[in-house]
Amino acid sequence: MKEQLIALAKQAMTNAYAPYSEFTVGAALLCEDGTVYTGCNVENAAYGVTNCAERTALFKAVSEGKRRFTAMAICGGKNGVLTDQVCSPCGVCRQALREFCGDTFTFYLVTATDACAVTLGELLPLGFGPDNLKITT
Ligand code: THU
Repeated sequence: MKEQLIALAKQAMTNAYAPYSEFTVGAALLCEDGTVYTGCNVENAAYGVTNCAERTALFKAVSEGKRRFTAMAICGGKNGVLTDQVCSPCGVCRQALREFCGDTFTFYLVTATDACAVTLGELLPLGFGPDNLKITT
């Protein structure tokens, strides 16, 4: 499944709309039911409106009724070229995923030759999530 996710992230990267940064990103999000949603970054002339690949995939999935996720593969590089540098999810995307995912949610960060696995708990320690808003006495 890991290899399939990586292949789908690479494919999604080819759809990136990144005329300003020229940094193209692809993501593939695995749902608990086995389905996969892909996403790419979508930039905008008003730069702040840009949506990252990870949130594109997440919002596509949630808008189709999915809320339980296990893993995500991410790849990115200048003009679609992968290097030995991983594309790690930005802080906003980490927090967006935290809404639906726990500490064991796994990222596969893809390089030109390999992929390394890290968890959401490692990338967003002590993250603020839905449980923090529950009233306890
Ligand atoms: N970007 C992503 O899509 N995901 C990341 O994890 C990092 C950054 C995009 C946003 C922008 O279009 C471009 O990469 C450069 O920051």
